[in-house]
Amino acid sequence: MFNNLCCDEKCYKNLINGKWVGCTSGKTIEIKSPVDGSLVGSIPSMTKEEVDETIRIAKEAQTKWRDVPINERAKILHKAAVLLEEKAEEIADILVREIAKDKKSAVAEVKRTADYIKFTADAAKSMEGESIPADSFPGFNRSKISVVTREPLGVVLAISPFNYPINLSASKIAPALVAGNTVVLKPATQGSISALYLARVFQEAGIIDGALNTITGRGSEIGDYSVTHDIVDFINFTGSTEVGKRISQITSMKPLLMELGGKDAAIILEDADLDLAVKNIIAGAYSYSGQRCTAVKRILVMNSVADKLIEKLKEKIKDLKVGNPIKEQVDIVPLINSKAADFVESLIKEAEEKGAKLIIGGKRENNIIYPTLFDNVSLDMRLAWEEPFGPVLPIIRINNIDEAIEISNRSEYGLQASVFTNNINSAFYIADKLEVGTVQVNNKTERGPDHFPFLGVKASGIGTQGIRYSIEAMSRPKAVVITINKDI
Ligand code: NAP
Ligand code: G3H
Repeated sequence: MFNNLCCDEKCYKNLINGKWVGCTSGKTIEIKSPVDGSLVGSIPSMTKEEVDETIRIAKEAQTKWRDVPINERAKILHKAAVLLEEKAEEIADILVREIAKDKKSAVAEVKRTADYIKFTADAAKSMEGESIPADSFPGFNRSKISVVTREPLGVVLAISPFNYPINLSASKIAPALVAGNTVVLKPATQGSISALYLARVFQEAGIIDGALNTITGRGSEIGDYSVTHDIVDFINFTGSTEVGKRISQITSMKPLLMELGGKDAAIILEDADLDLAVKNIIAGAYSYSGQRCTAVKRILVMNSVADKLIEKLKEKIKDLKVGNPIKEQVDIVPLINSKAADFVESLIKEAEEKGAKLIIGGKRENNIIYPTLFDNVSLDMRLAWEEPFGPVLPIIRINNIDEAIEISNRSEYGLQASVFTNNINSAFYIADKLEVGTVQVNNKTERGPDHFPFLGVKASGIGTQGIRYSIEAMSRPKAVVITINKDI
């Protein structure tokens, strides 16, 4: 199924207007595996002219795609989901090599995405408009009625990050397409090859030419140009807060949906089930080496149970398997590149220098950072506030609930937080006061299930994702007002 994607075995092309096209400039970017430096493939480094042409193609196709009935769009999405499931192993193998995800998580990402696409197709079919009689408003009678339907926005520019190239591309593409938009996908450079496989799946499923197009190249070269392009009607971005802020500064009058960084806290109260908390913290903080927006990124624990919690965490961290995901199933994989590993190492060093107590880890081998836990992290350390996007977890001891709330809210971020307690009153008290999009009670911070609303406040995002929410975000109401003139 995946022939035509490459010029030869390793040189990939972009999907533009239903065809696989290499770049005319001949400039390519080599994608090397973060695991062993081997070449995964090359992708076109597109010029601004090529990006412009692609966006124009998407605009032209939109009028045709809008006219495809929703039930047919939904059928195509269902087919894409089935194809994706069939290709789960093959695509997961690319993910393992391209972004160093462990195989089990890579397969899970692809299968979850297939479910996401199916659910999106079904959700779109059951989304209805409304009719609003005027007489509920003072001074009006029943002679006026507003018939409200939903319209697509036009061309959606979808920009995805490296850590979920399939899922965080598809969770933009599927709701955008089903709502009648056309899409230009700009995947993260490291992650592009996986995303091109995804585009191939949608093409095989039968979307019309130009409904989904891909543009590859460095964000630093084509990013500003793409986001400020006149024809782009909506930007759906997932990535760092730094790039997200830049996009919102340089664009004007463009609606934005943004999922950005986080510093999710797990708050552990005295009465918490510590074994449950430990299980969730380990999975939440260290899976995919902490390279998840929703990773548990700080622990705020009551002093009275801190020693016990740390002892239990240490025992579990010892068991995490560190290594090469191409060779075997591991828990801790190499970080995406050496710059990311340098950054995490700098946070570790600064915490050590400022007196944090290293419980376990702190070691680096090439781009692998061993799972690291620090106790006694104080609020003057960068580790208390910055998002490592790596497997390093700070413990900040607290003396009461209000201190936990205050420290949690002092963060620039506001994605999610967890509260571990057996007291429902404490859970609700804290949840009510936390400045985040979602509070998890007795569970790790995480995005799914994917039909739940998912949003960040403050520097963690703009707008709300989640299947129905995403479809709504990428469509708008259209009102036709009918006035019955009795004199006629
Ligand atoms: P990133 O460096 O911000 O890149 C994200 C995307 O933006 C990539 O496709 C990148 O392309 C592109 N880009 C770079 N500069 C651009 C520009 N000037 N204009 C437009 N696009 C530009 O983020 P990342 O390293 O891939 O992902 C990690 C970050 O994403 C973390 O901070 C994480 O918390 C966040 N994240 C958040 C969520 C969430 O749901 N809240 C989910 C996943 C990740 P290139 O790759 O070519 O540079
Ligand atoms: O990296 C950000 C993802 O949206 C997080 O999804 O909680 O399922 O890992 P996840």
